[in-house]
Amino acid sequence: MSAVPQSAERFGPMSEGDLDAVIEIEDRIYEFPWTLINFRDSVRAGYSCWVCRGRQEGLIGYGVMMLAAGDGHLLNLTVDKPYQRRGHGRRFLRHLITTARDYGAQRVFLEVRPSNDAGIDLYARQGFHQIGVRREYYPARHGREDALVFALEF
Ligand SMILES: CC(C)(COP(=O)(O)OP(=O)(O)OC[C@H]1O[C@@H](n2cnc3c(N)ncnc32)[C@H](O)[C@@H]1OP(=O)(O)O)[C@@H](O)C(=O)NCCC(=O)NCCS
Repeated sequence: MSAVPQSAERFGPMSEGDLDAVIEIEDRIYEFPWTLINFRDSVRAGYSCWVCRGRQEGLIGYGVMMLAAGDGHLLNLTVDKPYQRRGHGRRFLRHLITTARDYGAQRVFLEVRPSNDAGIDLYARQGFHQIGVRREYYPARHGREDALVFALEF
């Protein structure tokens, strides 16, 4: 009998019960993290909020996307450090793109720090291209950092 391949992770809707685990990762990963209130407001506002669970591990990543007026706006995509570079981020991004498509979005856009090589590479390899720059968008250690605006048109 041939083995049935199992996917490496499961994606499910983020609930308020996930937020303690989400914020624990967020605080570990980012120098300027979202707050618990940012995530709670996103869930309560009905944004497209997702968590990713490993087959054996608990919560290993999460994503938040706003779907409105024919656009998907990806606001947060994070994979916890020990689980990075295993393909979860790429599959999570594909899941979010499919979700936006199913919703009827014409495109997905996002902001990324110019210093975030991993994010830029991930997005570029999924077909996103840079459409602009938002000056001084992000907080930074010294002053502020620009954001590159990337888009994927359907
Ligand atoms: C960006 C992030 C979500 C990628 O998740 P991941 O699970 O590590 O990514 P994957 O293993 O699926 O890798 C997919 C591709 O992303 C790119 N990538 C991921 N990590 C990278 C790194 N450290 N350096 C360069 N490219 C990287 C590569 O193109 C990679 O493809 P490859 O493995 O064939 O080279 C993850 O690194 C992360 O959560 N980083 C911190 C938060 C963050 O910056 N989020 C994005 C904000 S806009």
